[in-house]
Amino acid sequence: MTSSFVIAVDGPAASGKGTIATRLGAIYGLPVLDTGLLYRAVGVLSLRAGRDLDDAAATAKTAAGLSADLLEDPAFRTRAAGEAASRVAVHPEVRAALLAFQRDFAGQAGGAILDGRDIGTVIAPDAPAKLYVTASPEVRAERRWKQLTAQGEGVSIEEVLADIRIRDARDSGRDAAPLKPAPDAVLLDTSEMTIDHATDAARRIVEAARARWTAS
Ligand code: DC
Repeated sequence: MTSSFVIAVDGPAASGKGTIATRLGAIYGLPVLDTGLLYRAVGVLSLRAGRDLDDAAATAKTAAGLSADLLEDPAFRTRAAGEAASRVAVHPEVRAALLAFQRDFAGQAGGAILDGRDIGTVIAPDAPAKLYVTASPEVRAERRWKQLTAQGEGVSIEEVLADIRIRDARDSGRDAAPLKPAPDAVLLDTSEMTIDHATDAARRIVEAARARWTAS
């Protein structure tokens, strides 16, 4: 048995992975890290510091200066922050600067849940439970649009769908830790599921993984 029970929840933008990770955290009493927030913070804080998002060294400096107490800013939840995050996330230097924070979180004695793009492939490749949560671009656009509208952002579904397609292409097409399912991840397509249904399905996947982990 490996030392701590880590649940890796990866998937594309607005697939439902964040909600599923939060709900699994409540079910299992485990701490949850939304790793997308780290990249969002690097993007927004780099812009505030006047740094060019395409400059790997400059944005890596922002990443190196990031700490947990800086993550609570609602500005990191906006549409612009998601776009900025996806742009800084292509830099291996930025990813390297965020690695130790994520690995430390994953290494907590009691276990942990992390959601993101490369948790099962790079951050915690030995995680006993790996989910790859996905949904069609149209369904994800509708979900993200509802979320952004509730936050007061004036944007059309068509614009959000275009954003999602650009983000998918950039996140999957980059050289550094591209978005892809780990070979041992269980695929969960939530396109036709309510959040309760998706949480139940995720829980069953985790229960099966936990039984294997306990027996090993
Ligand atoms: O999950 P999210 O939409 O908050 O993520 C924002 C961006 O951050 C996403 O487009 C790509 C990047 N990201 C990443 O490269 N690796 C992660 N583990 C998490 C997010």
